[in-house]
Amino acid sequence: MWPLIKPLMFALDPERAHGVALQAMRAAGAFPPLYGLMALMYRAGEKPIEAFGLRFRNAIGLAAGWDKDALALGGLGALGLSHVEVGTVTPRPQPGNERPRIFRFPKERCLVNRMGFPSRGADFVAARLAQRSRRGGLIVGVNLGKNKDTPNERALDDYGALLERFSPLCDYLVVNVSSPNTQGLRDLQARAELEALLGGLVARREGLADKRPLLVKLSPDLDDGALEDAVGAVLATRIDGIVATNTTLSRQGLVTDERGGASGEILRERALEVVTRIVRLAPGLPVIAAGGVMTPDDVRRRLDAGARLVQVYTGLVFGGPGIVKRMARA
Ligand SMILES: Cc1cc2nc3c(=O)[nH]c(=O)nc-3n(C[C@H](O)[C@H](O)[C@H](O)COP(=O)(O)O)c2cc1C
Repeated sequence: MWPLIKPLMFALDPERAHGVALQAMRAAGAFPPLYGLMALMYRAGEKPIEAFGLRFRNAIGLAAGWDKDALALGGLGALGLSHVEVGTVTPRPQPGNERPRIFRFPKERCLVNRMGFPSRGADFVAARLAQRSRRGGLIVGVNLGKNKDTPNERALDDYGALLERFSPLCDYLVVNVSSPNTQGLRDLQARAELEALLGGLVARREGLADKRPLLVKLSPDLDDGALEDAVGAVLATRIDGIVATNTTLSRQGLVTDERGGASGEILRERALEVVTRIVRLAPGLPVIAAGGVMTPDDVRRRLDAGARLVQVYTGLVFGGPGIVKRMARA
């Protein structure tokens, strides 16, 4: 099917194509015969994995940013994924950057995006999660971000409010401090700032009835010292894991003037290197590998490097939904 659908999707503007895919998944969730058919087609088999107290049916998840507002969870369960990371969600709704803001580079198998956290906001996403059907056993994480107009000094207010709001509604939470499209956000990865933010969140979690695993998502553009600092903050605050990595500002092998974060093949080696370093710095800490996962071999290399789980985004855009099943067997 995918060889027929892909040219149609790629004839559309990337954000429009994404909207079509989102609506298709949403429809699959609302129409049980279609869900059943897809679940049969994309069934991935069981290869269970334990991480931060949760049992995943296989290693493959959908990375943050695909279903930002939890619109399509009902259908995504049929694709063979073990987990979906909803978001990034911001406390208040915000529109994100002006369009166009996603660009495809088929020859290089990359995307560049400067979405800038378009989000329908915490109230909307919380209502979606509260209504969701639990069919299919999909694990749902929520990726948290601060609003564009919240200064970094007040970041804990935004992330703390989101932590409280989403803990009863999901399985794990991710603190996103690594998107390149919100000005200054990545400064929160510096040792002191990150330790203060994560420490503050851990303290707030203590008071909650529903305590969820808390992870942080890091950038591939941290140099060795900065990565060591960030991992140091993770270990000091004893949060539950790391998602590595977000998109890159690098343009190695990609000629474009478009601003934003690049993903796909451009990240294949760098994201793996970051995962390898984190595993070395923090043996035993669960790491979710994201970035440049385009083939089953990329999955294998990340698991071999010590990643516990693997997430895909750009690989799905270029490879189509059937790729999940092949990756889950890797
Ligand atoms: C269009 C687009 C939107 C994204 N939005 C988010 C987001 O809201 N939050 C986030 O943490 N990562 C976001 N990402 C990053 C992905 O979750 C992932 O970390 C990155 O794309 C690297 O994986 P890939 O090479 O498989 O695409 C986005 C990526 C793309 C391409």
